[in-house]
Amino acid sequence: MRTRITELFGIQHPIIQGGMHYVGFAEMAAAVSNAGGLGIITGLTQKTPELLAREIERCHSMTDQPFGVNLTFLPSFNAPPYEEYIAAIREGGVRIVETAGRSPQEYMPLLKAAGIKVIHKCTSVRHALNAEKIGCDAVSVDGFECGGHPGEDDVPNMILLPRAAEELTIPFIASGGMADGRSLVAALALGADGINMGTRFVATVEAPVHDNVKQAIVAASELDTRLVMRPLRNTERVLKNVGVEQLLEIERDKGASLKISDIYEQVAGVYPRVMVEGEMDAGAWSCGMVVGLIRDIPTVSALIARIMEEAEGLISNQLSGLLRAPAMA
Ligand SMILES: Cc1cc2nc3c(=O)[nH]c(=O)nc-3n(C[C@H](O)[C@H](O)[C@H](O)COP(=O)(O)O)c2cc1C
Repeated sequence: MRTRITELFGIQHPIIQGGMHYVGFAEMAAAVSNAGGLGIITGLTQKTPELLAREIERCHSMTDQPFGVNLTFLPSFNAPPYEEYIAAIREGGVRIVETAGRSPQEYMPLLKAAGIKVIHKCTSVRHALNAEKIGCDAVSVDGFECGGHPGEDDVPNMILLPRAAEELTIPFIASGGMADGRSLVAALALGADGINMGTRFVATVEAPVHDNVKQAIVAASELDTRLVMRPLRNTERVLKNVGVEQLLEIERDKGASLKISDIYEQVAGVYPRVMVEGEMDAGAWSCGMVVGLIRDIPTVSALIARIMEEAEGLISNQLSGLLRAPAMA
């Protein structure tokens, strides 16, 4: 299958693994890239630019295929040294960056001077258009169902993707709720050039996270995610657990006066506890509604092969078969 995304990034299949805090290590990115998709290392999980440089080197030792690095620009009192992270990316020979959170405008000259292709992940048509205007090469459009930060507009992909297709000139990929060949074909039909998956890739053999996390994803249904931090306009979709129930209770109690310090215990330092230690009740960690479609823990290559086979079967048999079918009595 060839799309504008496979051409842009020089990959075999139009499937990208979005940046994921404490999941997007070299093992994850290399597994996806080796399977013909585009793997992405999560830049800020590496505490310093030097550590990111080492992680990039490790990834190069595991794959000779293209991979990218995610740079998330979130509100933070202590902004990470983004320019130094970009230098590590450039010197590490990585030529694809997924940006997310705030607009990457400030860093575009630096990224472009390094010959880096930028795919900006955003949650609205207006932000996607802005990304196009400032010179991003592609966008990843995250619908309301996505794991992580869906923004504050609450527009699901069934509407958001065709709206993006109406407005954008640059290629875009569908993100949020993508799990299988059906998702890929639907995304293509709605105008996207491929798919970005987060949650689905966490439940794979190679995902470098505690087995409890993979089992929790398999056990969960589409009813098991919650939106937290909405009063702070920093909404995050997470898997429900004891810590998340506490967080929501604090949100209810505090109402409009909620401050980030009120929920510190349920959001700060949770990722290593969940992803490394397997403490599933520690607090808020990103997880998409797509858990309702995830029932196994395949290898990344088996997953990607299955998605492509299912998509190709859908396009060339089931869907085109509808046009060839004799009239029903
Ligand atoms: C565990 C986890 C951690 C994530 N961390 C980040 C992150 O640090 N930066 C980012 O841009 N997106 C992050 N995301 C969002 C994903 O890159 C992707 O956009 C999202 O998962 C897509 O929705 P899906 O989970 O329905 O596939 C995370 C998602 C998950 C599931």
